[in-house]
Amino acid sequence: MNKIIWVPVILLVVGVVFWMYQTSGDDVSVSAPENSGQSSDKEKVEIVMNRGEYCQCCVKWADYLEENGFRVIDRTVDNLLDIKSENHVSSDLASCHTAIIDGYVVEGHVPSAEIYRMISEQPDAAGIAVPGMPWGSPGMDSYSSDPYDVILFDENGNQSVFARY
Ligand code: CU
Ligand code: CU
Repeated sequence: MNKIIWVPVILLVVGVVFWMYQTSGDDVSVSAPENSGQSSDKEKVEIVMNRGEYCQCCVKWADYLEENGFRVIDRTVDNLLDIKSENHVSSDLASCHTAIIDGYVVEGHVPSAEIYRMISEQPDAAGIAVPGMPWGSPGMDSYSSDPYDVILFDENGNQSVFARY
């Protein structure tokens, strides 16, 4: 009788171990292609873009993000300057739109690769910015392009170069 009681227990343990093995196997196979690919269409990353009503280059930047794996929530606001100061975007960093993703600020025409990099590295910072609106940056298509920096900034006004283009 005692041995018979152990049968369902053993089956349960084997089942749990098998399930854990299966689950960990799934994780590996799911994360591998994500790491190797730049962006996946399956899981779009949501970003909220705050912009002024008549900004056309903002819309172009949003279209560019949509093409690069983001889902853009397009917010037309009339207090963009307040949103910038609330999010530690100083006037020397300011551009035409202020976007928020995963608790970070994305100010201006920032390339998608740097946004992906920021949300994966999770730096101790408020966000990243491309100050002004340099020609040749995403959404600022032009015959010529200017060099520009992507600036990492924090709440205390510290800035550093996150990337150069
Ligand atoms: Cu712009
Ligand atoms: Cu804009």
